[in-house]
Amino acid sequence: MAIGETTQKAIANPTKEFFVTMITRDITLEDCILDLIDNSVDGAWRGAGSRPVGFSEEADLSRYSISINVSPKSFRILDNCGGMTLNDAVNHAFSFGRRSTEEYDDYSIGVYGIGMKRAVFKLGTDIKIRSTAVDEGKRLAFAVPINVARWLANDAPPWDFDIAEDEALAEDGVEITVTTLNGGSVRSFESPSFVQNLRRTIARDYTLHLNRGLKILLNDEPIAGALIELRQSDEFVPMRDEYEDEIDGERVLVELIAGMAALPPDNSDPDEQDDGDKRFGWYVACNGRIVLAADKTTLSGWGTDGWPLWHRQYSGFLGIIVFTAAHATALPLTTTKRSVETSSEVYRRARPRMREVTRQWIDYTNARKQALEEAKQREAGAASISIYAVNRKTPVKLPLLTPRQTERVGNIAYAVPISRLRTLGKALGSINMPYREIGTKSFDYTYENLVGGE
Ligand SMILES: Nc1ncnc2c1ncn2[C@@H]1O[C@H](COP(=O)(O)OP(=O)(O)O)[C@@H](O)[C@H]1O
Ligand SMILES: [Mg+2]
Repeated sequence: MAIGETTQKAIANPTKEFFVTMITRDITLEDCILDLIDNSVDGAWRGAGSRPVGFSEEADLSRYSISINVSPKSFRILDNCGGMTLNDAVNHAFSFGRRSTEEYDDYSIGVYGIGMKRAVFKLGTDIKIRSTAVDEGKRLAFAVPINVARWLANDAPPWDFDIAEDEALAEDGVEITVTTLNGGSVRSFESPSFVQNLRRTIARDYTLHLNRGLKILLNDEPIAGALIELRQSDEFVPMRDEYEDEIDGERVLVELIAGMAALPPDNSDPDEQDDGDKRFGWYVACNGRIVLAADKTTLSGWGTDGWPLWHRQYSGFLGIIVFTAAHATALPLTTTKRSVETSSEVYRRARPRMREVTRQWIDYTNARKQALEEAKQREAGAASISIYAVNRKTPVKLPLLTPRQTERVGNIAYAVPISRLRTLGKALGSINMPYREIGTKSFDYTYENLVGGE
């Protein structure tokens, strides 16, 4: 036998157990649920015509709704966002990972072809995925029941899931129910703070979709999107800019809006309580999904490239940058969709523009310290407007403040007998005159007599 000749093959197939454990390991339950919402949102977006998710696109999502119910006993998500077709289910929806031959040209936030599988395995062990969709003119319903223990029991290829006929859902869409929950899911769903946080995260991350009318309900309660507003007047104008970038032949539309969202604090002592702080900073969205919210860290640039670290003084500033691409792979998105990929070229090239407007706000708040009253008066004239109402292609405008003239001063301190102080106080007008006033009055008196004038 010749050296280098292949004699045998080493088996490298993964086991299902390994797969399920690995893909669910480094992701939180909350992020898994968001992945399911992403799929519904992608469905709604397809229904609305698969177009860019930028600021200027008029898309109405008000006929779509996503309903999530969680309890220590079960999890359910139901949408009316069009559903997946039987063909989708057979060929790709249940595969682990997207094939490079698959064409996704739909402005979706699904990237890797793993979200749904990862989510249901993380949630529990008795799973049912139902879908009703119209495919080539025919309305068809099917269900994919997954009993995880049974599925794990046999590693032999091919790996697949049974698809069964099913009753149609009331509207075209997908319903996923998980009835035997994993311990971690039970503990989370028992906890009011988990549910409350989930609600808050959904409100924040899907703000742009909620603002277009999409309905999301958690335990039957509708979630309201955060209203993102900036202040505007003749003197304060939020900036708005857009440009096209390209990466590996993919076009990425980049839009920025930034300005004063609220009046800055009078006092910028870092230890003071300030509610507003949570809203301010930079927001980054990828195909409509907010992946970084109210960021005050190096991720959005604070403390890098000559930006100062975030300080309470900068409160009131809000910037949002939106990246839109037909293929989600071109977006500066991390795999958990919970942060921005700072090494992305597209993101790196956007940073100087973010920095420019941030810098102007920093300069304004510096000048403000020397002209607080004037600043407050001018700021009061700026009214809130929705970010969608900000004029396109406008640079930021902030007023130039006139700093108070501050002359260098010196202090005088000396001690005299109290009886003499009192006597002088009385001669100056009051026996109870404060010592400090006696001091300034006697200085003024002497100055006038020896030097004269002011
Ligand atoms: N709620 C849904 N509505 C329509 N199609 C869905 C839904 N959930 C999942 N799918 C289909 O299943 C596929 C796989 O979903 P997923 O595992 O999250 O990967 P990805 O979203 O990255 O494609 C989706 O691409 C989509 O075709
Ligand atoms: Mg997905």
